[in-house]
Amino acid sequence: MDKKSTGLSDTFKKNTAPKSFTKNPIKGTKFTIAISSAKGGVGKSTFAANLALSLKNLNYKVGILDADIYGPSLPKMMDINEKPKSEDGKSLTPIERYGVQCMSIGFLVDKETPMIWRGPMVTSAIKTFTQKVLWDNLDFIVVDMPPGTGDTQLTFAQEIKVDGAIIVSTPQEIALADVTRGINMFDKLKVPILGLVDNMSFFETDEGKKYNIFGEGGVEKLSKKYNKEFLGKIPINIDLRIAADNGKPLVEENPNHNISKIFIDIAKKVEKSFI
Ligand SMILES: Nc1ncnc2c1ncn2[C@@H]1O[C@H](COP(=O)(O)OP(=O)(O)OP(=O)(O)O)[C@@H](O)[C@H]1O
Ligand SMILES: [Mg+2]
Repeated sequence: MDKKSTGLSDTFKKNTAPKSFTKNPIKGTKFTIAISSAKGGVGKSTFAANLALSLKNLNYKVGILDADIYGPSLPKMMDINEKPKSEDGKSLTPIERYGVQCMSIGFLVDKETPMIWRGPMVTSAIKTFTQKVLWDNLDFIVVDMPPGTGDTQLTFAQEIKVDGAIIVSTPQEIALADVTRGINMFDKLKVPILGLVDNMSFFETDEGKKYNIFGEGGVEKLSKKYNKEFLGKIPINIDLRIAADNGKPLVEENPNHNISKIFIDIAKKVEKSFI
């Protein structure tokens, strides 16, 4: 009897197979470090800018990619008010400031224009920034992520080779619950976590009295619980905030400041993870 083939066609199989993603490194860069937090306003952008300048201080070629499409901070933090050039109408040249190559959606749109975009447009902007920017021979690209666990995180985790993530948090309990979510997200997406940072850790008066405004030791405890490295504590400091608002990160403004030294120490730990 004639056996009728019930096999599925190759085209059908191909079209219905689970989508597999190829993770490409960001062109023109060696190592990609994502600065993340599940909660907003904990100091990611401040940390990203100061870490980038600390790595530059250690003589690496560094870039910062502002991946926060809805709330870009890089134009303000690095005092950039110009638009990136495009020589061929297809690719963008990053803007160099303080020896660091920078790219942000904020360079392309008016400051007051809100980005009212759906997820797929965000994904496409991230792809442009990782594939169409002429990053020039960078050792490290520091990516300032938006808060949360949304489209941008997913695009990075699935399509871009992220060599390590750093999770920034403040120590109060309401932020710590989100850190756990962040750790689980990166573990699930198989992105190595370089470590956790406790920002706005405490406030110290001129007389040396310390106040644990947001509680104490929570981030460090979580690092232990999930077996991740604890990278350090950054206190609440007015010079750090003023430098950020003035568009010149503290590490660049004064690398000998006590707070700058903490960032440079963290950069040395990051360096050790790669080199
Ligand atoms: N350790 C600190 N001491 C004092 N001010 C700080 C510290 N860390 C961050 N800040 C200030 O807190 C504010 C929020 O920081 P930042 O914008 O870096 O947070 P973020 O996590 O990137 O926020 P978002 O989730 O909106 O992207 C800024 O004004 C910044 O200067
Ligand atoms: Mg930010």
